[in-house]
Amino acid sequence: MTNTSASHPTALAGTDFLPGPVLLLGAPGVGKGTQAQLLVTQYGIPQISTGDLLRDNIARGTELGLKAKEIMSSGHLVDDGIVNQMVLHRLQEKDTHCGYILDGYPRTLDQARFLDHTISDPAFLPRLSVVAVSIVVAYDQLLRRITGRRICSVCKSIYNVYSNPPDTEGVCDLDGASLVQRSDDTEAVFAQRMKTFEEQTAPVIAHYRNLGRFAEANGDQNVEAVNTAVEEALVKLRQAAR
Ligand code: AP5
Repeated sequence: MTNTSASHPTALAGTDFLPGPVLLLGAPGVGKGTQAQLLVTQYGIPQISTGDLLRDNIARGTELGLKAKEIMSSGHLVDDGIVNQMVLHRLQEKDTHCGYILDGYPRTLDQARFLDHTISDPAFLPRLSVVAVSIVVAYDQLLRRITGRRICSVCKSIYNVYSNPPDTEGVCDLDGASLVQRSDDTEAVFAQRMKTFEEQTAPVIAHYRNLGRFAEANGDQNVEAVNTAVEEALVKLRQAAR
């Protein structure tokens, strides 16, 4: 199996390339989290997944988590103000100073404008513009990916019962913890998540495409091939954006 938290050969080993701030964009299930976990291993910069941050708040029963829980299980988006503040707070942590991978953010034009404005402040490191990679997968593949997804309850490694099963059913290969299914990974909620994506997040993709620091990666191939496509896109984009 391909475990996205396991160590992975660095395609750019021997170079000092760092991709800086990266946005991974795309519909539910295209592989943003899977690719983000690989990039973390390859470049040593953190993944910032707004979905994971929100789920962590739900698990801890915070006030924010209580607000987010119902919205997330319906497939709609959590309020921009809440998510923006959460990201702002996270970007102030020191581990972001060489770059970071934003996974699932921004998802609305308001969030994109907030991010662009925030990181244009020289206080935010690294002093580089974001580059955006949109992963593209045919719609009919996505439902299978979403309903087949299982996640380690401890280390958050991502599996799939169809394309990337664990060695032992229901058990994480890395730490032996149980695998869980997300409550929004049902066919009905997926349909709403896709609708939300098309209405609110597709314009974000157009926004970054228009800014020019943007590439598409074909997500309809195996995980390693997608990883190579994402890495190649990042090298080109960062060279062009310097
Ligand atoms: P979030 O957690 O961000 O979910 P999402 O964007 O819908 O994306 P997913 O996590 O479902 O998919 P992914 O692209 O990461 O795919 P993965 O790599 O896991 O958001 C959840 C909710 O939180 C939202 O609906 C919203 O309510 C709220 N929220 C989050 N951010 C927000 C924001 N910014 N603003 C407002 N609200 C927000 O892969 C999926 C499956 O496919 C896995 O099983 C994997 O093993 C498999 N797979 C991956 N790559 C491949 C491949 N190449 N071939 C075959 N299988 C593959």
